[in-house]
This record gives sequence, C-alpha cells and structure tokens, in this order.
Amino acid sequence: MDRIRIVGGARLNGRIPISGAKNAALPLMIASLLTAETLTLDNVPRLADVTLLKRILGNHGVDVAVAGKRAEQDAFAGETVKLTAGEIVDTLAPYDLVSRMRASFWVIGPLLARMGEAKVSLPGGCAIGTRPVDFFLDGLKALGATIEIEAGYVIAQAPAGGLKGARVSFPKASVGATHVILMAATLAEGETVIENAAREPEIVDLADCLTKMGAKIEGAGTSTIRVQGVARLHGARHSVLPDRIETGTYAIAVAMTGGEVLLEGARRDLLDAAFDVLVEAGVEVETTNEGVRVARNGHGLAPMNVVTAPYPGFPTDLQAQLMALAARAGGSSSITETIFENRFMHVQELVRLGAKIHLEGDVATIEGVDKLTGAPVMATDLRASVSLVIAGLAAEGETIVNRVYHLDRGFERLEAKLSQCGATIERLTG
Ligand code: UD1
Repeated sequence: MDRIRIVGGARLNGRIPISGAKNAALPLMIASLLTAETLTLDNVPRLADVTLLKRILGNHGVDVAVAGKRAEQDAFAGETVKLTAGEIVDTLAPYDLVSRMRASFWVIGPLLARMGEAKVSLPGGCAIGTRPVDFFLDGLKALGATIEIEAGYVIAQAPAGGLKGARVSFPKASVGATHVILMAATLAEGETVIENAAREPEIVDLADCLTKMGAKIEGAGTSTIRVQGVARLHGARHSVLPDRIETGTYAIAVAMTGGEVLLEGARRDLLDAAFDVLVEAGVEVETTNEGVRVARNGHGLAPMNVVTAPYPGFPTDLQAQLMALAARAGGSSSITETIFENRFMHVQELVRLGAKIHLEGDVATIEGVDKLTGAPVMATDLRASVSLVIAGLAAEGETIVNRVYHLDRGFERLEAKLSQCGATIERLTG
C-alpha cells in the first residue's frame, strides 16, 4: 500500500494550480444519464473517485471518452471528458461499486427520471457518520416514485407517464439529496419546488450545466429552487468550477508552514467563510486576476473559534485541516462539528504528532503548541488524511502517512503540487 513521506519544516513558496472540484465533477458526470446526447465536461480533475464513476456510468451504458492527451507543459490541467448515454443498457447500480463511493448512489435520480426505474444499492456505512438516504427517498416519493427496499437495494419505480413535479421540503439541507431531486425534476412533468435546498456552489454548477442542457431552473444557490420539467434534455459543454476544498486545504498549508503561494485559478468568493477565519488568525489573503495569493510571514497565528455549517458557513470538509492549523496557534481554539457526528478520527492521529486536543461531544478544544513532531500516522478518510499531511509539513522530522488511497480519491497530484513549492514530500509505493 502506498504511503507518503514528509520531512517537515520547509516554508511553501510558489504557485499551486487548483483543480476542478471533485464534488462538482461527480454530479455533473452523473447528469450525463439524463440525455442521449453528448455532455462534454472540461476541467475534470484526475482523481480515483472520477475514475470509479466513469466505470459505474460505463456499466449503465454511458460511452466515456477522454479528449486529447496530457501535454507536458500543462501537467496539472484537467481532463476533457465526453459522456454519451445514447442508450441506458442497465438501471442497476450494484453494491460492489456503490459501496466504494457514496455519491454513486446519486444515479438513482437521473435513471428514474429518464428510464422510469432504478435499482441502486444502499451506500452502506461510512467512516465519518451514518449518512442515511431518507431525504433522497422521501423526495423521490414526493415526485410520485414507488420505493421498496429489498436485500440492501433501493428499487424505485416512476408512475406511468413518468415523475410528476411536486413540492419537496428537506428537513435539513443535504447536498446529495438536492443534487438528486434537482436532476430528477428536470424531466418530471410540471413544476418542482425544492425547499431548504443546499446552497453549495457545486449545486449552482450543476444547475448551470443542466440549464445549458435545456433544463428550466430558478433559484439555485438559494434555499428555494424551482424547476419546470421539460420533455427532454440535450447535449452541452461545461467547465467544472475550481475546487474550493482543495483551495482551502492549500491555503491552510501555507498558513501552517509560512511562506507565500499563489493558488492559481482559485476563487475566494467560493470560500469566504474559511478565508475570513484565516485572515482573523493572521494570514494574508489577496485576490489577484490569476487566483488567490496566501501568505504568512514572520508573525504567529491567533487562535480560532469555528463552527462547521452548510454553505455559506465554514465547510465540514475543511474542519480536519483547520484543526491541524489550530494545533500551532498561540492559545486555545475551538472547533465544533455540526454536519457529521463522527468526523473527529484525525484527532488521535494529530495527537500522535504532538497536538493537544480535548474532545467533548461535537466540540474539539485545541491548545496551541510550540512544535509538532513527525511520526507515523494513519489516514482514515479523505479530509482527515490531508490534515495529517498539513501537520507533517510543519512538524519537525519525518512523518509517514499510511493508507494514502484516501488522498487519491480527492487530491490531484498532491505531492507534486506541494513539492514544487519547496515541501519535502514523496510517495513511497508498495
Ligand atoms: C456532500 C459532499 C461532502 C460534504 C458534505 C457536507 C459530495 C460528493 N460530498 O456529501 O464532501 O462533506 O456534502 O458538506 O458532494 N442526511 C440525512 N439524510 C439524507 C441525506 C443527508 O440525514 O438522506 C444528513 C447527513 O447525515 C449529514 C447532513 O444531512 O448530517 C448533510 O449531508 P449531505 O449534505 O447530504 O452530505 P453528502 O451529500 O453526502
């Protein structure tokens, strides 16, 4: 199994190109199931989750082609992926694929809308919490679907004549459930109103792409989305928006090590909550026409008090990284996790590097320390693992991060991006 070896202590200086957002690319690729014509996506990140989704979509009959070859000079450029679901040959999404990536459950929306049926495995357990699918199923039922659960599968059937527009009110904003009901509603008959919709930029990106495909959508990015169903969608071309979690992760890394890095192609407006926290802690952040410049020179970090929240709040996907940073702040910081109940698995690993963290319920109190010290640590999930990398960059001596396959799910060429800014980081294979 691959590991990552880091020798901490180097400041980061230079440029880091920001890839297309994983959490936008996945639903955009799934949206290709809604039309028989070709959906062309630019700036698709090269990630293990994207590769897995190509396979899952291929099983349903989607022809997936990658345009062009990666040129030497733009080694960090995203892929252009052409997806053509001319004919859906199978409406089954099997357990062995869905269990590896929760977002693959989302095919249920477009399959049901276009084919009138879908049999999709329940996603199963997840390291960061229970993550149920009740909002998805209640929403699809509101659109007229019959849902049965049998032997770990959701068997969904649209009424004769297809899904019908309806009012869908989520008890809590859910990114996945909003994506799914939005996609399903584009082909449902009449108007669908999604209330308490998630407002994440990735929802807006999906809505923009669906609109290019002929969908009629209003209000994406607010908590009420209105969709007028159309009979069919057509092909389109769309570029995936920059990854705000990757942006925040590298911004935190620079805050941690000191130095100055231009995050190329990053958009500050997608991540105001996190940048505000960094600025308050003493980090310099400046928007330029090439991206966002992040710097910390000389002075220390002030402690932080953060509560994770749905967009536009502080993202849960940056909670672990910020905790690594808080471990080096001067004084006591507190981080409250409100989205996932078990998302503190990085705590014990950060403690192994010398962090002082006290956990009580959903609140972590972090006492800043003068130095972290390298050690072998274990990655437990995608965002937790990158927090260990960040901590390792600032720790004295060598850190080995085990189980890095988690990182490959969501961070494109992490070692290359960091080492070109002066970090000592390498992958040990085998
Ligand atoms: C998405 C992101 C993930 C991010 C999360 C929250 C992708 C691929 N993943 O995950 O990176 O951490 O948003 O920003 O975009 N819930 C229910 N019932 C449901 C659905 C959700 O109770 O049917 C709960 C969840 O347990 C959680 C909350 O709603 O407490 C929000 O989860 P949700 O927004 O659905 O997360 P994901 O879409 O899975």
